[in-house]
Amino acid sequence: MIFYFTGTGNSRYAANKIAEGTGDSVADMAELLKNGKMSYTVKTGEKLGFVFPIYYSGLSSVVADFLANINIVADNDCYIYAVITCGASAVGADVMFRKAIGEYAFDTSYVYELKMPDNYVMLYDPCNEEKAKKFMAHADRDICDIIEDLQNNKKGGFNSGAKGKMMSFVMQKAYALMRVTKPFYVTDECISCGKCAKDCPIDIIKMQDGKPTWTASKCAHCTACINKCPTKAIQFGKATVNRGRYCLDKQ
Ligand SMILES: Cc1cc2nc3c(=O)[nH]c(=O)nc-3n(C[C@H](O)[C@H](O)[C@H](O)COP(=O)(O)O)c2cc1C
Repeated sequence: MIFYFTGTGNSRYAANKIAEGTGDSVADMAELLKNGKMSYTVKTGEKLGFVFPIYYSGLSSVVADFLANINIVADNDCYIYAVITCGASAVGADVMFRKAIGEYAFDTSYVYELKMPDNYVMLYDPCNEEKAKKFMAHADRDICDIIEDLQNNKKGGFNSGAKGKMMSFVMQKAYALMRVTKPFYVTDECISCGKCAKDCPIDIIKMQDGKPTWTASKCAHCTACINKCPTKAIQFGKATVNRGRYCLDKQ
């Protein structure tokens, strides 16, 4: 089984490709989380994978919640792995992942840092189409390596150690402060299609009088609403007005 979380499609793409190569199934962490506590029993010999984006040198709130709420039933020597998609580096996210898995008294067998196009439009200009193509060609080759590593039961992989621990400690404090929804607004370009509400992985966007409203003060900052809006009607403060948008998902 491969559990994935995605805002703009990178991690779902990687999860699906890995699943094609290994014959596994995939499941969306955000969807499963809507049902509250859950349990997954790992079959003998099965590998348990997690594919997700790094947020602020650590885990997104959705992945952290998922890992805190899933009951993993498995043999002690079960092979658990993470593929962390990132715009620049996975430093810190591996540390948080290992810690979360360690809470269940399991070891993480293997971690891979998978560079993919950057999507964080609220902080900077995301990857443009030309650069994204190059990133994706490279990512496709990396995914072949991941599949081979998994087939060979490779152990180890990416480990950011003490540096990662420090980075995630500092940056996750910034994430807690930054993941606010107040600066989101819609412009007259909004066509009331409701896509943003449908795409929100934690269902906090509600359509009111035909316009999206963010109904919680904080969200995961996954960027799905702002990057996937078909008319670029969603903005986050002034900074995003002149920035591009990135999305691999064509849904
Ligand atoms: C809130 C947020 C924080 C991010 N933080 C980092 C980071 O610390 N390091 C990094 O290399 N990329 C960072 N990124 C980029 C994403 O991890 C990267 O683009 C990822 O592949 C997006 O995956 P997705 O399309 O599955 O959502 C961040 C993106 C978001 C939205």
